[in-house]
Amino acid sequence: MPHFGDYQNEIYLAGLQGVISRLPVDFPTLQARASAALPPSVLNYVQGGCGDEVTQDRNAEAFSHWGMVPRMMVDCTKRDLSIELFGMKLPTPLFMAPIGVTGICTQDGHGDLAAAQASAQTGVPLMASTLSNDPLETVARHLGDTPGFFQLYTPRDKDLAESLVRRAEAAGYKGIVVTLDTWVTGWRPRDLNSGNFPQLRGHVLTNYTSDPVFQKMLGPDIGDRPTVVQRWAATFGKVLTWDDMAWLRSLTKLPLILKGICHPDDARRAIDSGADAVYCSNHGGRQANGGIAAIDMLPAVVKAAGDTPVLFDSGVRSGTDVVKALAMGARAVGVGRPYAYGLALDGAAGAAHVLKCLLAEADLLMAVNGYPTVAAVVAAGVTRVD
Ligand code: FNR
Repeated sequence: MPHFGDYQNEIYLAGLQGVISRLPVDFPTLQARASAALPPSVLNYVQGGCGDEVTQDRNAEAFSHWGMVPRMMVDCTKRDLSIELFGMKLPTPLFMAPIGVTGICTQDGHGDLAAAQASAQTGVPLMASTLSNDPLETVARHLGDTPGFFQLYTPRDKDLAESLVRRAEAAGYKGIVVTLDTWVTGWRPRDLNSGNFPQLRGHVLTNYTSDPVFQKMLGPDIGDRPTVVQRWAATFGKVLTWDDMAWLRSLTKLPLILKGICHPDDARRAIDSGADAVYCSNHGGRQANGGIAAIDMLPAVVKAAGDTPVLFDSGVRSGTDVVKALAMGARAVGVGRPYAYGLALDGAAGAAHVLKCLLAEADLLMAVNGYPTVAAVVAAGVTRVD
């Protein structure tokens, strides 16, 4: 039976032939290599966060104050990392969080397709962002057999919102992820100091320019980039309140996932008003600074959500982090910046490598810790260590 951990054998065997992987397996080296490879404007946007980035840093650091206790005399020769989500059996508990600039993380400007190809190669689902350099339909065609999800930045124009959802349904996406925390952009010093915001330079707006409702809004100005950007900026961010939930729910029969839920009361309210899952995330510390690490908010959200699945991201940098988030009750665990760095270094292969490393480390940790299944991970739980 193949296991994700077998990836380490591939690496060691290649080493015996004198072949050393061009891509690192650990996050610090990955980040350093990607920092050297990416153009400064893209690097600032991807790596940066809000304010002095204390929340962003805390997200990753906070994993270290949760620890696991190994169990012995458990046969872990066979491991199963599969999970059930919205009636689908997924081979891994990992997913690629939506990243609106994947398009410009690769030199050819088609990073969204590369991310989709990495998803096809690994079975790790992609949440395709509204902000994309290729239309969502084209992205979907590169997903292979791996289910994909569409992340909606809800436009102010309701017809445009509905059109994007209809297109995602028609393209075969398996769920709609509505991001709640980004109707306005947080204060991001790295981007402000360089006066750079990719969307205002006309990047990653293809889902808008390919949309019939947006095209109608623009009329004959569709080819004029400044007008496109202006129109986009005017419609980008609808302020959502609980009063909009009935409308959002009415848009689709696909699973509806609310991203950005960090408070247990919000989790309960989301579920009571029709969400199929809540997605605990602080946007990787990019939107609000001064917050609690996302992983520290997860237990209360999980408790409030009861049987409803809780998805999680923010600060996941290793397979160990993935296992800890599962142990703390996340149904599926998202990774953001690390796969963007993989894209920057080697396109689809680079992102796939990053995902395979996360899965290999998670699998081997489960093997060593005596947790043969995700259910065993959940049963073992975690302990606060400081
Ligand atoms: C994001 N994120 C994001 N989220 C979303 O819902 N839609 C989007 O388009 C984007 N765009 C985006 C761009 C970049 C460059 C980053 C780094 C992040 C947030 C993303 O989905 C996720 O919540 C965080 O990336 C998770 O944190 P880590 O793993 O990057 O620490």
